[in-house]
Amino acid sequence: MSRTVQSAPVAIVMGSDSDWPTLESAHKACERFGVATEVRVLSAHRTPLDMVRFARAAAPRGTRVIIAGAGGAAHLPGMLASLTPLPVIGVPVESKALKGLDSLLSIVQMPSGIPVATVAIGGGWNAGVLAVQVLAASDDRLRGRVAEYRRELERESRAKNRRLQRSTG
Ligand code: RP5
Repeated sequence: MSRTVQSAPVAIVMGSDSDWPTLESAHKACERFGVATEVRVLSAHRTPLDMVRFARAAAPRGTRVIIAGAGGAAHLPGMLASLTPLPVIGVPVESKALKGLDSLLSIVQMPSGIPVATVAIGGGWNAGVLAVQVLAASDDRLRGRVAEYRRELERESRAKNRRLQRSTG
């Protein structure tokens, strides 16, 4: 009898371990909301068959959102999106040659029907927050935590304003 191992609701995958400093922010954002993640290196170019296996197994294992980061010719998010019905959030990693513009355009310009929700170059934190919001759409408690986070941002912004007002007399 085969048993499906239940995985974390958010999978964070990246083309190389050199992408981790960017994707670590996504991991921290999920952690901030108490959402478990699984993290792995998976390359569309170097380990394409592993990528296919992972994508096919993700939904049955309990993954609900995939965050995929890559740099340069960044095929990973689009390829994953083509292989799974789960929502894929793409994170363009800043590249040396083109400062991440190559990554951004590779990830964001998906053909009609296979979307990748693309965040800013280096936007790991927002990818994590967006993944949490996707889960929160069907989870009242998580939606409450997102609302509290928004109130925190509001308080911080008002404090910034007060500091600026004080320093400009
Ligand atoms: C991409 O190539 C990865 O996503 C990474 O951003 C880039 C460089 O990879 P390494 O040479 O650092 O392994 O596939």
